[in-house]
Amino acid sequence: MNQGQHDSSMAASTSLQTCDVLIDDFKTEPFTIVIFGGAGDLTKRMLLPTLYHLNHDGRLPKDFSIVGFGLPGMSGEAYRHLTRASIEQFASESVAAEDWEAFSQHLFYLTADFNSDEGYKALHNLLGDICVPTQQRKKEVIFYLAVPPVAAPTIIERLGRHKLCAGTFDPKIVMEKPFGRDRPSAVELNRTILGVFEEKQVYRIDHYLGKETVQNIIFFRFANSIFEPLWNRRYIDHIQITVAEHIGLEQRGLFYEQTGVVRDIVQNHIMQLVALVAMEPPVGFEADLIRDEKVKVFRTIRPMDEAYIDQFTVRGQYGPGKIDGADARGYREEGDIPPDSNTPTFFAAKLYFDTWRWADVPFYIRTGKRLAKRVTEISVQFKQPPLKLLGSACDVLEPNRLVLGVQPQEAISLGLSVKYPGVGNQPHTVTMDFNYETSFHVGRHNAYERLIIDCFKGDLTLFARQDGVEAMWSIVDPIVQRWEATPAPDFPNYKAGSWGPHKANEMLEKEGRTWRMW
Ligand code: BG6
Repeated sequence: MNQGQHDSSMAASTSLQTCDVLIDDFKTEPFTIVIFGGAGDLTKRMLLPTLYHLNHDGRLPKDFSIVGFGLPGMSGEAYRHLTRASIEQFASESVAAEDWEAFSQHLFYLTADFNSDEGYKALHNLLGDICVPTQQRKKEVIFYLAVPPVAAPTIIERLGRHKLCAGTFDPKIVMEKPFGRDRPSAVELNRTILGVFEEKQVYRIDHYLGKETVQNIIFFRFANSIFEPLWNRRYIDHIQITVAEHIGLEQRGLFYEQTGVVRDIVQNHIMQLVALVAMEPPVGFEADLIRDEKVKVFRTIRPMDEAYIDQFTVRGQYGPGKIDGADARGYREEGDIPPDSNTPTFFAAKLYFDTWRWADVPFYIRTGKRLAKRVTEISVQFKQPPLKLLGSACDVLEPNRLVLGVQPQEAISLGLSVKYPGVGNQPHTVTMDFNYETSFHVGRHNAYERLIIDCFKGDLTLFARQDGVEAMWSIVDPIVQRWEATPAPDFPNYKAGSWGPHKANEMLEKEGRTWRMW
């Protein structure tokens, strides 16, 4: 090695080490978070426990306030009780008395109707009293909309009308999914938001992006050099993305019946996974550079006409079955669901991307409620070797498969064919495995912790951008329209606790492939 080579390899390894030890030393400025739907399900399950954790871990500043906004008739005292109960139920560790004491002092509740101006006047006054200014003499306020989509426009308009986003207030808005019901309503909602906020103040949350294993897709692809040359049509036969849920509606019948699987999971969580797997390397790690690449992916998904939808998408709705050995109700027997519901709870499809990298490589995606197991996974199946050099042994050769496990297995596994010991020429598949838990010995983080901290920091990388949201709707809208216009004659068409309708299997079998099973 000459001196020049030595220097450049030193430089490379130093930069890697620096990257390795990057510590997130971000100091959060004083802030107030106003939660619309302050006593709702998401707030109780996720937001309050997450804020409690962050405070417990010393990630919040000394001066912060949490204002619950909603439910007429609830006192501040009752809100503290509700908060404590939800933290006890949903936080991962027990609540120590002194931690609770410290946290509860930051809690406020405003009992108000989303539609009445009085509530927003009261909010203005309250924020004037409790917001501690940042170093820039601004009052940082995060408006978190944990409300059904129909309530959002009213709230946003009122925030604008009552000057809660102007003057000394430095506002951000967090929008929960689904962001609209289709592309036109998402465009309209964006227009409403951008009438009051700037795009850089808008955090469209998709909790899948807060999962470590989902973020790791980017690291896996772009922090290693060995897979990227293979990540294309020359070497990949097809890709499968599965988001299988074991749970059913969980008291969300009213919401789900209006939403269905495509709006609930495909338009957002699955599309985000698809984008991370299919995107080109971004030119940098900044929010907009990554989001630019994702949007390009959505734009290259081959548009689906009715004939294509009929042939290459599969819908399903679960009927009665068995879950963990016990009888389970069918979708139409769940609370708030009409007995003739046409709402799909299962989705499978084949997608193509018209790009140089992915031309003619099918992406098979599927998701559903009440499936046999909870599994979220990306499986990349590579092509067979170009020649059957090992004679008839090749007929049983398992293709190389790279599996990125998102949950519950937080793992990466690469399947390889090796020689089985002995005199015969028998191939055998083994795996090289990485597992988050055993490698890093860290507890599981709730996806919301990361996303809320990013919101405090002003980092939009893990949040959807307006053009991305609209592009995702453009992909799924034709499917929803087709399915709504032609009610499924065979619903319910899969048993609770199974792997979904037979048609989903047939779709792959016709192409000589099978879904992964566990
Ligand atoms: C939510 C959906 O966004 O994601 C739910 O509204 C679904 O219907 C949930 O159950 C799944 O999230 P996770 O993190 O459990 O995979």
